[in-house]
This record gives sequence, structure tokens and C-alpha cells, in this order.
Amino acid sequence: MKSFAVNMSSESLSEIFLKNTFRECHKWAHYLSVYDKHLSCYRGKAPVVLEIGVREGGSLGLWRNYFGPEATIIGVDIKQSCEKLSGDGFDIYIGDQSDLAFLEHILNQHSCIDIVIDDGSHVAADMIKTFEFLYSRINSEAIYIVEDIVPSIAGSRDSDSPSFLDYANELLLQLNLGFGEESIAQRADKHVAEAVAASGKDRSSVLVSSPSGLSSVTEFTASTESICFYPNMVVFEKAPQSARSAIKSSGMTPGQFMMYSTYLLKRRG
Ligand SMILES: C[S@@+](CC[C@H](N)C(=O)[O-])C[C@H]1O[C@@H](n2cnc3c(N)ncnc32)[C@H](O)[C@@H]1O
Repeated sequence: MKSFAVNMSSESLSEIFLKNTFRECHKWAHYLSVYDKHLSCYRGKAPVVLEIGVREGGSLGLWRNYFGPEATIIGVDIKQSCEKLSGDGFDIYIGDQSDLAFLEHILNQHSCIDIVIDDGSHVAADMIKTFEFLYSRINSEAIYIVEDIVPSIAGSRDSDSPSFLDYANELLLQLNLGFGEESIAQRADKHVAEAVAASGKDRSSVLVSSPSGLSSVTEFTASTESICFYPNMVVFEKAPQSARSAIKSSGMTPGQFMMYSTYLLKRRG
């Protein structure tokens, strides 16, 4: 039995937040407009939303009002007390976000995740481990948001690990692969070498040659449209990438025309 209104509101996320009638929700103020900017296109479309870090359940109520009754809202928390929120129409999983078997179990129940919000432990090593596991497994067009990435706030409890801000900066290099720019490739190569060492895989399986024609880039490059940095927060927009291709307004080959038309159609949604 749901204990709060689930009709989808037409108000902005900030307005819904201010009128919150569910449970307490605690956010940095500027996060709300960032969420609105990246997530409004999912409103009323029954997205599957996975939020790591539930606490009182305030943000789960916020997502319910924002996305509407048809959305699937999944909450993950390490505290057993959060279990009670399943009575409010949320899918609650109790466990540690850095436990990959636990995350696998969630994915077995929900194979098509559109949006991930990491507001969990804020320990950088956990955030990175969670990201590396989930990012490639969620939908090919999806949004992955990580809150509290600034080391002095988020990484203070695990100074041996790079902060998520450092980690996301490395991914920014990978995003810029595929243009044949040697200096970027060399700088990103350090990350590729680390990925090879960490995974135990050989280099050719870390560097993918994607069907879309992007070669010698990482799987991340081939599957990511953008990385948007905001104060203390980062948003990854996933979308399959085709080969980097410069175009002219006249004299396009039929192949270029087709590729550009497809790109424009996708942009219009
Ligand atoms: C900042 S609070 C979440 C706030 C909530 N999203 C909101 O906006 O109202 C962080 C939550 O993460 C949970 N947490 C801490 N470590 C965790 C871990 N390793 N795995 C999963 N959840 C964890 C805590 O129990 C806490 O409830």
C-alpha cells in the first residue's frame, strides 16, 4: 500500500522537492536542476531507475512523483531498516554496493535499467567498483549519475584510492579517443594498460573494435555520448557511438548522408 500520492506531477524536480510530502530527502541544492536537465526526457515513460543509497527513502518518493506511477524505482542500501520501504511500492535490495554478486542479483531481476544514481557510501573505491560493474550492463542508452565526487568530501575515508573525480577525468580521456590524436591516445593508453593489468584480460579484449566502426577505442568510448561535470557531481550519457566522421553540408557520400540522417533522427528522439 503506497503511503503518498503517485500521480505524476508536471512540476520541476525542485518544486516537487520543496513540496515533499513523503520522507526527508537531503541534496546539494544545485543537484536538482542537473537532474531535471538530464532526466526530464524519461518522465511519464516508465523508466527503470536504480538508486544506490536510500536512507529515509526521501529521494525514492521524489523519483516516484517525478517519473510517475509506471516507473520502476529500485532502492539499494546496506541498512536493513530500509527494507520497510518496499511497502511503499519500491523494489528494495539490502546489501553492499561493492558486492558484485549482490549487484548481479539485482540485474538478474531488472535487466533493463535506464537510470543509475549513486548516492550510496561515497567511498571512492566503492563508487568505482560499482560503476565498472554496472555501466556496461545497463541499457545501451542510459544515464549514470554519481553524486559527491569531490575528494575532500567523498574520498576522505579512503585516501589510498583515487577519488571518483580523478577516475572520471581518466574516462574523459577515453571519451576523446577515436580522432587519431596521438597525445590523447598516449595519455589514455596509461588507463588502458591499467585496465589490462587489473582485468587480467589481454589488450585486444580491453580495446574493442566496435561494429559501428570505431576501432582502437575502449568499450567506454564506444558506448558513451557525453560526460557532464557539475560541482561535486558527474553525469554519463550512454549511447552507442559510430565512427568519428567529419561532414560537409554539400557533396556528402550516400554513406555519410545516411549516417548523419540516422544521427539527427536519434537526436530528435
Ligand atoms: C546520503 S544517504 C542516501 C540519501 C538518499 N539518496 C536521499 O537523497 O534521501 C547514503 C545511504 O547510503 C547507504 N550506504 C552506505 N554505504 C553503503 C554501501 N556500501 N552500499 C549500499 N548502501 C550504502 C547508507 O546506509 C545511507 O542510507
